[in-house]
Formats: sequence, C-alpha cells, structure tokens
Amino acid sequence: MALHIAVIGTGYLGATHAACMAELGFEVLGLDVDQEKVDSLSRGELPFHEPGLPELLLKHIDSGRLRFTTSYEEVGVWADVHFIGVGTPQLPGEYAADVAFVDAATVSLAENITKDALIVGKSTVPVGTTRRLLGLIAKNKREDVRIDLAWNPEFLREGFAVKDTITPDRLVVGVDSVRAEETLREVYASALALDTPFISTDFETAELVKVAANAFLATKISFINAFSEVTEAVGGDIRTLADAIGHDSRIGRKFLNAGLGFGGGCLPKDIRALQARVSELGLDRTMRFLTEVDEINLRRRERVIYLAAEILGDLAGKKIAVLGVTFKPDSDDVRDSPALDIAARLYGSGADVTVYDPEGNANAAKRFPRLHYVDDTSTAVAEADLVMLLTEWPEFKALEPASLTSLVNKRRIIDARNVLDATSWEHAGWHFTALGQYFEPTAAS
Ligand code: UDX
Repeated sequence: MALHIAVIGTGYLGATHAACMAELGFEVLGLDVDQEKVDSLSRGELPFHEPGLPELLLKHIDSGRLRFTTSYEEVGVWADVHFIGVGTPQLPGEYAADVAFVDAATVSLAENITKDALIVGKSTVPVGTTRRLLGLIAKNKREDVRIDLAWNPEFLREGFAVKDTITPDRLVVGVDSVRAEETLREVYASALALDTPFISTDFETAELVKVAANAFLATKISFINAFSEVTEAVGGDIRTLADAIGHDSRIGRKFLNAGLGFGGGCLPKDIRALQARVSELGLDRTMRFLTEVDEINLRRRERVIYLAAEILGDLAGKKIAVLGVTFKPDSDDVRDSPALDIAARLYGSGADVTVYDPEGNANAAKRFPRLHYVDDTSTAVAEADLVMLLTEWPEFKALEPASLTSLVNKRRIIDARNVLDATSWEHAGWHFTALGQYFEPTAAS
C-alpha cells in the first residue's frame, strides 16, 4: 500500500512539500497548529505567491489526496512518514536559530504516533539537533512503537518551489538505519528514477550540507558585491567582470549578479545561525568570514541610500519611485528584503516614497503601512524626482526609457540590480546610476 505522508507545519516549505507529495501520488495530511491556516488551505487558498502551487493545491484537494488538520492524534494514527517543515527563525536579539517549533513538533509526534513510523526533519537546524531529537523521541514515544528519525534538508528556492521539490538537483538524507533510508527511497522514487543524485549520510553531514550550501551562495554574492565597491571607486564594469570570471567552469556565472545583495527568509538567518552554532562549539574563528559576508551585504543598502542622497541633495520632500520591494522577483516575500528596507529608510529621511511591486505590495504594506503603494509603474513614477529599481522583476528589466520620460519630474534612475542598459537610458537623456558603477558626485544633481 502507498505510504501515508504527514507534513507538520504548513508554511512555505510544508505547504509546498504537502502539495508536491500529493502530486507524486501519495495520500497526504498536512498539519498546522494554526486553525486559520488549516481552514484556508483546506479551501485551496494559499497565503503566499508561488507559481504553480495554487493549481496543485486545488487539484489535490479535489482529488482527495490532500487534506489538512490541526490534530496530532489524527496524523499519529494515520501516517507512516512524518515530515517536519516548521520554521527555525532567528531568535530575537541573537544570531542563533530558534528550534522550539522543531522540538515541539517532534515531542507531539512521538507522543501521538501509534504505529511504526519515520520522522523526517526538513527544517534548517543547527548541527547536532537531529541527534538531540533522538533523545526527545525515546523519552516521549510509546514503548510498543518503533520511530526512526532522518534529516532531509530542503533546498527549494522561492519562485521555483514546485520544480525544486518534484525534480530536485539532489536529495540528501541523514539516517542511522537501513529502514529509514529504504523508506525515503520509496518516497522519492520518482526523482530517483530520473537519476537524481541521492546522498545518504549521517545526521551531522546532512544538517551541515544545508547551511554550507546557503553560506556558499551568500559568500558568492558578497564576493561580487565586494568587487562592486572597488569598481565604484576606480571605474570598471562589474557585469563584465562577473561574466569573465563566470566563464571559468570552476567558478560559474550563477549567483554573481552584483546589486543590492541577498535577503529573504533563509540566507541572512542561516549564515547568522551557523556563526552562532560554531561559536557554541568553541570554533569562534571558523566562520568569522561570514561576518564580513553579512557586512558587505548590508553595506550595499548604505550605498544605495548614499547615491539617492547625492543625487537628490536633501531627501526631505523629494518624490522617489521605488520599483520592487520583495527580496527577489517571482515572490511576494518581503522578509529581510533589502528593497523594502531601503524604501522604509528613504521614507524615514523625509522622502515621499511611492512603491510599486507586482506581488509584494500587500505584504510590504503590513510592515510599512505608511509608504504609498500603487498598482503600476506609470503611477509610481509620476512626477518622480528619482526612480529606483530595487527588485529585478521581468517587467522592470524590460523598461524602456521612452515609456517613463514624459511621466517623471526629473530623468534620474538608480539601477540597484544591474539589469538595465545604461547606454539606452543615457541616450534618452537620463542620469543613470547603477551599483558597481563609478559615480561622480558632482556630475549628479
Ligand atoms: C535560498 C537558497 O537558494 C535555497 O536553496 C534555500 O532552500 C533557501 O534559500 P531563496 O531564499 O528562495 O533560496 O532565494 P535565492 O534565489 O537563493 O536568492 C537569495 C537572495 O540572493 C535574493 O535576495 C536574491 O536577490 C539574491 N541574489 C541572488 C543576488 O543578490 N545575486 C545573485 O546573483 C543571486
């Protein structure tokens, strides 16, 4: 009989995983402690923007393969495999990750599982967590059931979550029993049939793979952004530099887009949690370079604010059009978004900020209700003294200067994502500035 799969926590990761498991043919029960979330998912409503996911959710609510509940008792009796996809946010005022939700989910499962089962953690956790959870399970489970534990980190990218879940680049599983590995091979049979690399390893390696991947990606972005600081000082073209080193197959061009840097729910918190964890292990120096990675990243924001102030003089009362507030395109996520941070800081300096984001306005407005949100680019740039492209949505990358020229008050644009063609904007009479580009303060205003 096909495995019954439970997914604990129905946020970004859990909701995606649950719908994709149903798409792969399993019967799935998603659990969340938040009744409202369960009710809206059961109606087929998704609280975030993810291409392709709403369709899958509706399809499998209709097919009957996907249901949602708040009851641990129900999943404990029913499921063979329990994926844990709850959040591990940064602790307030600290670098470390908060694993309280993972612990609570594990204990509740252990207390309620009534037949032999496998618990599979997917959340990003500090190394050592899985081994610690073994103890929690042993302490709380019924004597007559066997519960195996595995760690199976998730590498999905927002905007590509369905594809990354159904056809991942690789599968990594940390296990300590043959049975756990065999069950996971059964769960992921369709990806394995496509020759997806399957890395079976110990708990610690599996936990570390996830943070190592995110630390590497963050470092790569900050690496090119550090060179931006150099080209800003001496001249040179950061995009050509990235292309040229990217041709070296050992380096590769991906994640070398210079600009406003990384944000979102993963990269920033994961590099901080990693530093906190290695410090706990007495390895204070080991991940110190990540402090620099973080700082380079945050300095990009300062640079954009500096450019705006250089171009506009006093920011107070100046009309600024902000294009894009999500942390990246194809997402409505504004968590740790560099773009939203900048919009809010400009507002804080007295600028009159108008924001347009194709999907992110509503989430941004929840955090910063005082910014002025509009529904299209033309309205956003009307009478603007400065246009700032802060998130590289396709419609902003395709912007032509001619379409904006008659709308703005002053033809000035900052391309903080390095996606526009400087020459065409300059030919159209715009004062064009990009991150990574040499900037002559006096030439500005
Ligand atoms: C990331 C990891 O890629 C994913 O494997 C993990 O599971 C979760 O974290 P995500 O947060 O969805 O995924 O975003 P990603 O596409 O990795 O981009 C992260 C940030 O880096 C974005 O803010 C993006 O704008 C920025 N970025 C990315 C750059 O600034 N330059 C680049 O070249 C690439």
